[in-house]
Amino acid sequence: MSDFDQLIDRRNSHSTKWEKYAGRDILPFWIADMDFAAPDFIRNALRERLEHPIIGYTRPPATITEAFQDWLRHHYGWSIPAEWIVWLPGVVPGMNMAARCLTAEQRLLIPTPVYYPFLEIADNAQRRDVRVPLILDGGVWRMDLERMQSQIGGVKMVMIANPQNPTGRAYTHTELAALADFIDRNDLILVSDEIHCNIILAKESEHLPIAQWQPDIANRTISLFAATKTYNIPGLGCAAAVIPDANLREQFQAQEAGLVSGIGPLNFVASEAAFNDKSNWLQGLLRQLRSNAAKLQALVGSRMTTVEATYLAWINIADLGLNDVQAHFESHGLGISDGAQFGHPDYIRFNFACPEMMLDQGLERLGHALQG
Ligand SMILES: Cc1ncc(COP(=O)(O)O)c(C=O)c1O
Repeated sequence: MSDFDQLIDRRNSHSTKWEKYAGRDILPFWIADMDFAAPDFIRNALRERLEHPIIGYTRPPATITEAFQDWLRHHYGWSIPAEWIVWLPGVVPGMNMAARCLTAEQRLLIPTPVYYPFLEIADNAQRRDVRVPLILDGGVWRMDLERMQSQIGGVKMVMIANPQNPTGRAYTHTELAALADFIDRNDLILVSDEIHCNIILAKESEHLPIAQWQPDIANRTISLFAATKTYNIPGLGCAAAVIPDANLREQFQAQEAGLVSGIGPLNFVASEAAFNDKSNWLQGLLRQLRSNAAKLQALVGSRMTTVEATYLAWINIADLGLNDVQAHFESHGLGISDGAQFGHPDYIRFNFACPEMMLDQGLERLGHALQG
């Protein structure tokens, strides 16, 4: 049995994903954590740290910075100096800090649909956002740069997720070059959330950190990375903002004061072990996710576009004409995410990162649910 076949009972672990439907026959395929065990090398590193009996306030250790620099070099051939890195307790706090760097008049542009916390950022920061829908172009979700250009008035910052949640896109070199040109031409700052960068499923896709591949806009970028999604340790939040420009970095860091908590020692230990991983654990995970994605695609067909990256499928349900999407799928024993939350009501997001046995059961239910 592989690490990814084992059904782990998460009841009584206060799991957000499972508690939502406690006591009901509803399988959860909603929030983005996986039903796979975190790898042994991470759990062992945590056990070792617990040999020390004090879990005090902790500064970012030099070793995690080195591990992260190595990881960027290993996966992307990108060498960055340590001073570009700002450690954070999560990617979402980093996105909110970035928006707070805007003045009251400056707007935030967000291509949608997108991971729902993006849509709360402007309100949180008492700023205004401009939402520009992605277009479905021959079965591929793309940014609509023309429409973005037409709505540029007052915009100073663009925030994207790449790989994209919920559509599962991994933007190509050509797309990123066009975006970089747009950013440069309009004198903008780009915030690029790259938390799903290791989870590349399509053979023809790869992850391209934009600040590396488009060096002309590196000084206009805040790139956000974390190991927590890939290694299924989101409960131990730890993220890195990479900000090459010293002024922008200083402005960003100034937003932290009094709002953003420090990072716990166990969080650092877990992420450092993850960044240092050179085992074949990730290959095993990707194999399982590819197989799950193929099964899901075989069931839902053209309702869903190819998941190039992430473990999230974006499935069109417009034809079902549902008034209450959540209730419909729950009545078929499925907990899914309603696309309306991400800015597009005709879709659901389905998290397929689970052992095959659970997926099979979920797919049987999904087949019925999609018949209306
Ligand atoms: C695109 C994206 N960004 C950020 C996060 C969450 O990041 P964090 O838990 O580090 O705040 C998620 C989690 O699903 C995500 O999908």
